[in-house]
Amino acid sequence: MTQSAMYSRVIGTGSYLPLCRVTNQQLVDELARRGIQTSDEWIVSRTGIRARHFSAPEQTSSDMALEAACRALEMAKLKASEIDLIIVATSTPDFVFPSTACLVQSKLGIKNGGAAFDIQAVCSGFVYAFSMADNLIRSGVYRNALVIGTEVFSRLLDFNDRTTCVLFGDGAGAIVLQQSRQPGVLSSVLHADGSHANILCVPGNVQGGMVAGQAFLQMDGQAVFKLAVKVLEKVAHEVLDKAGIDSSLIDWLIPHQANLRIMTSTAKKLGVSDEKMVITVDQHGNTSAASIPLALDVAVRDGRIHSGHRVMVQGVGGGFTWGAILFCM
Ligand code: ACO
Repeated sequence: MTQSAMYSRVIGTGSYLPLCRVTNQQLVDELARRGIQTSDEWIVSRTGIRARHFSAPEQTSSDMALEAACRALEMAKLKASEIDLIIVATSTPDFVFPSTACLVQSKLGIKNGGAAFDIQAVCSGFVYAFSMADNLIRSGVYRNALVIGTEVFSRLLDFNDRTTCVLFGDGAGAIVLQQSRQPGVLSSVLHADGSHANILCVPGNVQGGMVAGQAFLQMDGQAVFKLAVKVLEKVAHEVLDKAGIDSSLIDWLIPHQANLRIMTSTAKKLGVSDEKMVITVDQHGNTSAASIPLALDVAVRDGRIHSGHRVMVQGVGGGFTWGAILFCM
């Protein structure tokens, strides 16, 4: 008797946005008080962003991850104790160590649990974490995984640098992945090219009790833009080829929510209409590793994405890193 293939399936999604919502105009006014000139028109026309959320000073990545995780567990109808793998994607961990995943595990009340660790792939982090969890579940090692993207990117922003501080926001998103005989993840592809490390970075670290180097985000926007457009199209074709599926069979495209112009350009090249793309960058800004699970949760909860739909998620970010996953809900 042949055994049918093992898959991992998304059985729950959840997300969290901090209470403080800041519109472009509010940010423009705040920056003007510092002598920095920008405008709602500039931000919307270059990025599609209209608002973002900023965390409260005491709020951490693990706090927001916990909220998103609880909502995903509720949808999955699973108890926290049934989770045997937690992967958190973040570039803004609570501490140097322990990992944010261990903090989330503890906040969920799990004791003597399975593996918990963080992944650092900046804005591709969630796609990296999702792919790792899928592989670990399909290999039979784990059964129920929480995969979380959570960021307090506002803490990395230099509010005297108008070229970056208008782009990012804070938030968290989570999925519960479960082992299944029913098709879930169909294919995944991950890439990195560290030779582009300098075009998007926070070139600082901790030394002797102090920050050494620069702890603010630095970006060559045009270089990032060109590379993102190129690799997102390429990786989409790679993940489709791997699954043996044509782009016309994609029900929903969820690219990393960094810039509407990058997103629409990718969709156009794939022949996917804008109506099939989930867009949250207008309301969330770029929340790095949280952007994809946040967008997925929004579209699941408002009824656009439902069981049986084929979804492609695509990440791209610092490192440089990029990747895509094709899965059935
Ligand atoms: N308000 C007003 N003017 C601005 C602002 C601002 N906030 N920021 C820059 N400008 C000015 C510049 O100073 C420049 O002025 P100049 O011509 O007098 O020198 C002018 O606008 C044009 O600047 P460019 O950098 O050429 O603007 P561009 O059209 O490239 O847009 C942007 C900049 C939005 C950053 C774009 O390059 C971009 O989206 N890049 C990709 C960024 C991205 O997606 N990053 C994240 C991906 S990975 C991750 O998520 C971590």
